[in-house]
Amino acid sequence: MSTAGIYQPRGEIAPRVKDDGFRRCLIEGLSQSPKILQCKYFYDAIGSDLFDRICELPEYYQTRTELKILRDHANEIATLIGDDAELIEFGAGALKKVRVILDAAQRLPAYVPVDISGDYLRAVTCALELDYPDLMIDPVVGDFTQPLKLPSIGARRVGFFPGSTIGNFRREAAVQLMTGWAEMLRGGGLLIGVDLVKDPALLHAAYNDAAGVTAAFNKNLLARANRELGANFDLDAFAHYACYNPIQQRIEMYLMSLERQRVRMDGHTFAFEQGEAIYTEDSHKYTVRQFRQLAAEAGFTPRAVWVDENSLFSVHWLEAP
Ligand code: TRP
Repeated sequence: MSTAGIYQPRGEIAPRVKDDGFRRCLIEGLSQSPKILQCKYFYDAIGSDLFDRICELPEYYQTRTELKILRDHANEIATLIGDDAELIEFGAGALKKVRVILDAAQRLPAYVPVDISGDYLRAVTCALELDYPDLMIDPVVGDFTQPLKLPSIGARRVGFFPGSTIGNFRREAAVQLMTGWAEMLRGGGLLIGVDLVKDPALLHAAYNDAAGVTAAFNKNLLARANRELGANFDLDAFAHYACYNPIQQRIEMYLMSLERQRVRMDGHTFAFEQGEAIYTEDSHKYTVRQFRQLAAEAGFTPRAVWVDENSLFSVHWLEAP
């Protein structure tokens, strides 16, 4: 039997804790027209696990391309970071890419992974500690878009923001986020991965994988609302829809209601028409020149940039003067 399109996430069921931010995001977002859930709530333990699987999909070229760029230029990157820096990774996820840097920058004193997915962060940090016993690893569970209390060892600070996560912000929000970092990283710099504009067919495939993992990841927002907030979303009554908008240079992701329906959550009722969409995510793509311009607006001085041989993905070294 073919299992294409069927995807069963593995992993622990998240505890039934009430997250007020998620609750507010749902109530406000689903009361608007058009409906929107543009928020970071994809990443509970199950969502983080699904995202790891996205990174390994044949259609999702981003992760392996960025890893290859980092490997190919690891020594040069390590020199730019310097061996006196505290490395801070925003939205650190599986802590896989940073290993390439840690292997090249052997004298780096400290690493601070920041991630919103607490249990997940603790688990992957334990694994990293075993492999890098001399490195001081100080994980911070938190939302990197909010003011964070970061440990300081008084060293130069260098930021690491791979995965083109910056593309999940609107341009103004990206400039604002990076403006804060330019200040926080003053005297150091930011190493950041950015997905490039390209043939829309490649982009379309990357966000519409055959195995349905991206669909499961998108729908995890609704599954999470059922688990944590007692909502009654029928996951089969919604479909993942992702398309490329070439004028805005972004993939836009939606959850489409396949029928006229009502969903209840905590005393609230949300009505859906057949074909009505919930807007869930943007993934902006840039040219190298456009992104260097954005970085400069945020107060960074763009320096080195590395691109793979097929011009799919870019990694930028930005100095924070
Ligand atoms: N930064 C990743 C990207 O934009 C995040 C991502 C990949 C993502 N696939 C996704 C976000 C699917 C939401 C849904 O490519």
